[in-house]
Amino acid sequence: MLELSEIVRTYRIGGQSVRALDGIDLRIDAGQFVSVVGPSGAGKSTLLHLLGALDRPDRGSIRFRDREIGHLDDDRQSEFRRHHVGFVFQFFNLLPTLSAWENVAVPKLLDGTGLRATKDRALELLELVGLGDRVEHRPSELSGGQMQRVALARALVMDPPLILADEPTGNLDSKTGADIMALLARIAHDDQHERAVVMVTHNTEAANTTDRVLTLADGRIIADDSSRAAVALGDPVAEVR
Ligand SMILES: Nc1ncnc2c1ncn2[C@@H]1O[C@H](COP(=O)(O)OP(=O)(O)OP(=O)(O)O)[C@@H](O)[C@H]1O
Ligand SMILES: [Mg+2]
Repeated sequence: MLELSEIVRTYRIGGQSVRALDGIDLRIDAGQFVSVVGPSGAGKSTLLHLLGALDRPDRGSIRFRDREIGHLDDDRQSEFRRHHVGFVFQFFNLLPTLSAWENVAVPKLLDGTGLRATKDRALELLELVGLGDRVEHRPSELSGGQMQRVALARALVMDPPLILADEPTGNLDSKTGADIMALLARIAHDDQHERAVVMVTHNTEAANTTDRVLTLADGRIIADDSSRAAVALGDPVAEVR
């Protein structure tokens, strides 16, 4: 689904330059739930931003289903994101004055889909993430785990093939975090859709439940471990299904 080759991303601030990514080669296939771990400053968020066309590399190519997405102009980037990428962040980023279903509906309404169809889809997704009984609640009336589930439903509303999550469990207790992990796994492993999920996390326990763990250090991939795949497909996922 995604193929990165020889990616370099350097930030320049004042006279100083930081090579956040220093030669990344990576292929991610549909059906994979991938976690990205590594110390602070390793380049994890930078990598996620490039995967989601929120940023551009200085060098190298990023191919999404045979289309080069690494060097699109702003309009094409946002067009690509709208239809191909769902983002989930540590701080949920919900709109405080909107209800749960309205938050989920926003990307689809902005894309010009009618209100009725959009609301139906939003309600369906909130059901999927276990919030069918909270659709009219505003973010301030929801718990952290519930807010993150709303954010997850919103990330899915355009049916994107790529879900990118930066520390999605960072503000949740371990039980709630495990629920979110199980949902992400279910999304990645859904046979009805060609989908991949890439998640940045500092939580090694959470990372160990994913199919594949990429370890970054100083802008390079220093380990790429898929040996846990069988385990990940076993317990937490099956429970949700
Ligand atoms: N917008 C920016 N401008 C300048 N430098 C940046 C910018 N974003 C990140 N960097 C630098 O690039 C390097 C990689 O940052 P990145 O945010 O990708 O790290 P990270 O692995 O996500 O860290 P954390 O675990 O703390 O979130 C860091 O040294 C950081 O200081
Ligand atoms: Mg980060």
